[in-house]
Amino acid sequence: MESMVTQTLDFMRDERSVEPVRLVDVMALLESLQTDYQDTGHAVGIEGAIARTVSCRPQALRRWLANVVDNAIRYGGVATVGVEDGAEHIAIRVLDRGPGIPAEDIERAFEPFVRGEGSRSRETGGTGLGLGIARNIARGHGGELSLRNRSEGGLEATLSLPQIGS
Ligand SMILES: Nc1ncnc2c1ncn2[C@@H]1O[C@H](COP(=O)(O)OP(=O)(O)OP(=O)(O)O)[C@@H](O)[C@H]1O
Ligand SMILES: [Mg+2]
Repeated sequence: MESMVTQTLDFMRDERSVEPVRLVDVMALLESLQTDYQDTGHAVGIEGAIARTVSCRPQALRRWLANVVDNAIRYGGVATVGVEDGAEHIAIRVLDRGPGIPAEDIERAFEPFVRGEGSRSRETGGTGLGLGIARNIARGHGGELSLRNRSEGGLEATLSLPQIGS
């Protein structure tokens, strides 16, 4: 119950009002997240690299990653994070090897308290807020979160963040 209330408050809070934008070493942030997951017995792979610092809110980015990586582990068994440095955008992708989300349910998965058919059992114990929060974080950065089912199976969640050469 407490975590449900905390998550709901996070969902309603405007991220932009609570944390300043900084230049962030995204690779260091990813490696520290990887260590945290390792400590709980989950291997998170990292592919690619971003050499420059990225303009973003680091706690919000960490939250974005945690929500999406938690989903990948919970529903897809394993998470791999891929990073890509483009001229105007950086992309962070989280891939898994699970069943994905039926195409017709993808938009609804972002809505608060909406959980997939197979996800309502107690053992996965979520609230249905993670993706909505993650999308708010992306949009709060002027970016976007998109979900797609991979042809080889599994879900791909992509965070695209606009960047002006830093
Ligand atoms: N990687 C994934 N693979 C398959 N289904 C997914 C994946 N990520 C999310 N989903 C589906 O989308 C639903 C909504 O996800 P969301 O993260 O918003 O909520 P949750 O994981 O159920 O709960 P919470 O994140 O609040 O703990 C999930 O219940 C699940 O059915
Ligand atoms: Mg979730």
